[in-house]
Amino acid sequence: MKIAILPGDGIGPEIVAEAVRVLGALDLKFETETALVGGAAYDAHGHPLPEATLKLAREADAILFGAVGDWKYDKLDRPLRPEQAILGLRKQLGLFANFRPALCYPQLTHASSLKPELVAGLDILIIRELTGDIYFGQPRGRRTAVDGHFPGAEEAFDTMRYSRPEIERIAHVAFQAARKRSKKVTSVDKANVLETFQFWKDVVTEVHAQYPDVELQHMYVDNAAMQLVKAPKAFDVVVTGNMFGDILSDEAAMLTGSIGMLPSASLDKDNKGLYEPSHGSAPDIAGKGVANPLATILSVAMMLRYTLNQNAAADRIESAVQSVLSAGLRTGDIWSEGTTKVGTRAMGDAVVAAVAGTTKTITTKT
Ligand code: IPM
Ligand code: MG
Repeated sequence: MKIAILPGDGIGPEIVAEAVRVLGALDLKFETETALVGGAAYDAHGHPLPEATLKLAREADAILFGAVGDWKYDKLDRPLRPEQAILGLRKQLGLFANFRPALCYPQLTHASSLKPELVAGLDILIIRELTGDIYFGQPRGRRTAVDGHFPGAEEAFDTMRYSRPEIERIAHVAFQAARKRSKKVTSVDKANVLETFQFWKDVVTEVHAQYPDVELQHMYVDNAAMQLVKAPKAFDVVVTGNMFGDILSDEAAMLTGSIGMLPSASLDKDNKGLYEPSHGSAPDIAGKGVANPLATILSVAMMLRYTLNQNAAADRIESAVQSVLSAGLRTGDIWSEGTTKVGTRAMGDAVVAAVAGTTKTITTKT
């Protein structure tokens, strides 16, 4: 099994390093190969997704991705911006199904900005369509762009579109995922305003006919955003388009205490996948050793479960994360009174130790 390691920019390299160490602590044989992606690749090769990186990603059985982006690339023409690397990987590899589980760990109930009773036991799964929508509309409003900006222009535009097969396949993914959970799907749209999402709603409803055992509810995106903070536990599987999914998954992440806890999987039709934390490159804290590596470590668990069929190893990582949280270790983003603040490396050390089955007392404070 070969895993492509693409650390990227900002905190990407720090958090990915910890996740790779956790992978190494399992007694499984993997071949890993690392490549540049995002701004780091642009700096070295003049392109955010060099041919060699794309080739490695294509050939690997799974991809572990950190994060891309930094303000210093804001003046680049859009096709050269670091974000194009992740968008390009998703599109080129057909990674259309994005799983973003929002789980509130009991140890972190108090880290949420919502009242503990609203989030205790929260376990929702956002399934975001990842290769269509306004993200990949054609034509794109670039006619008048200069260095990615629009000096003196009168308009810019992006087009929103979805095709029937694109909606059908993500709807199947959502209904099948719901069958393994509490058999309830909320499809989020904006059918009251947008043609694309009336079509989305119609197609999801058609596909639902094949899943009579699963309950389907439709919800407008503005209401969904509100319900997510009002009564998040009323949701189970949420399926939505690329743009709404981007926004709602960040919102859902925060319910759990920190976006630094949220893993994600982006899968193709054969369950080959790219695994990345749901958060971004956080350039403001990059290189300081304070970023939370748990989202990336938990992404490795998802990789083991969804693509590499190593459920026992995935369980080991997830329980190791639980045990370091129970031991009171916290990075700054999830720290609260009475817990021990640790940095990226110490958090990684603790998970590695827990995976290896040894107990280790961490005294490092940052
Ligand atoms: C995400 C990110 C990306 C997206 C960016 C970095 C292109 O926000 O994975 O949610 O918008 O999809
Ligand atoms: Mg996002």
